[in-house]
Amino acid sequence: MKPNILVTGGAGFIGSHVVRLFLNKYPDYNIYNLDLLTYAGNLENLKDLENKKNYHFLKEDICNFHKIKAIFIKYKITHVIHLAAESHVDRSIKDPFSFAQTNIMGTLSLLQAAKDVWANNFKNKLFYHISTDEVFGSLGKEGSFSETSPYEPHSPYSASKASSDHFVRAFSDTYGLPIVISNCSNNYGPYQFPEKLIPLFINNILKNKSLPVYGNGENIRDWLYVEDHARAIDVIFHNGKLSETYNIGGFNEWKNIDLIKILIKVVDKFLGNKAGTSVKLITYVKDRAGHDKRYAVDATKIKEELSWEPSLQFEEGIEKTIQWYLENDQWLENISSGAYQHYYEKKYNLNDN
Ligand code: NAD
Ligand code: DAU
Repeated sequence: MKPNILVTGGAGFIGSHVVRLFLNKYPDYNIYNLDLLTYAGNLENLKDLENKKNYHFLKEDICNFHKIKAIFIKYKITHVIHLAAESHVDRSIKDPFSFAQTNIMGTLSLLQAAKDVWANNFKNKLFYHISTDEVFGSLGKEGSFSETSPYEPHSPYSASKASSDHFVRAFSDTYGLPIVISNCSNNYGPYQFPEKLIPLFINNILKNKSLPVYGNGENIRDWLYVEDHARAIDVIFHNGKLSETYNIGGFNEWKNIDLIKILIKVVDKFLGNKAGTSVKLITYVKDRAGHDKRYAVDATKIKEELSWEPSLQFEEGIEKTIQWYLENDQWLENISSGAYQHYYEKKYNLNDN
């Protein structure tokens, strides 16, 4: 039977890579990309795919339970890959309500729709929830997050993602819903909204604007190239064990300030600037409230059980990423000006599902 896969948040950063990988690799699957097109959703991310026969776009809010249920019925949805979320920690500090609404209530609405429509006939069905390593909190100098690390979220974003993970497990334990969860570390690569560290800093170097380093720049993140995350999602979707959790990470820890220096070096090189030209843009600013010190993911389980591991060395991934942003300056420009939101409103009748 051909799966009808509902990918939520497919117009966002990671979602667009997942949609691209699945459409290209599995031409027999029907992909329904459901996205509200918030500020972070951009159909330009999928421009090369929009005419594929097995690709369908649905503009909808995951929180709208009745509409979501109707979509499950109308399109005979058999699988869900749930990526839609509010994803930026700084925004969650300013507006925690919208994070609770989308990340918790939106996930609950999808779970309930899946349970109701699948009506206990869970054969050949799957609800795959995409989560983050931030649910595990912050590490000291040593150690890394495993699948059994205790949940200890600190930001409203990570608290909302932790809650959504708990709901997904609760639906498995209570109703037997077939689920799988993965918790991934920081992604980077093409199509990332330029509010996150790497695209923001690339954009600012290009525009000769200051680079706001939070606190002392000593915080550590574990970086993974986004296409490697999409490959991990593919592997877990097809071969992951039901009810299990898989950690995904880059085995690639960087102090923010060291990473920023690499960005400066590579962008200056591409621009033909003298080495170190943009170092002067570094500006230390007030720290993020509740700023987690260090993330590091132990991705041994997915490596051993599902033979997945990152394919790119960081230096290679960063060069590829910077080159992409340089070649796609119009994409960056459209995002910065907000033009991308108006173009697609005109192109599609976006309220018509
Ligand atoms: P993103 O912000 O780029 O994209 C989120 C997408 O969700 C957007 O297209 C947006 O329009 C859509 N969306 C938001 N609210 C919606 C709603 N109510 N209904 C329907 N669609 C809605 O996010 P991302 O960085 O691509 O992250 C995707 C998922 O992966 C999230 O669940 C995030 O928590 C998780 N994750 C992200 C990272 C990372 O480094 N970016 C790492 C690990 C896990
Ligand atoms: O770990 C996975 C998470 O990674 C995902 O779940 C989130 O959706 C994703 O946004 C990301 O969260 P971070 O908070 O780690 O990413 P961000 O790019 O916002 O910040 C990375 C680090 O850089 C963090 O230590 C804060 C710092 N930073 C960030 C910005 C935007 C700065 O110093 N200056 C900045 O302007």
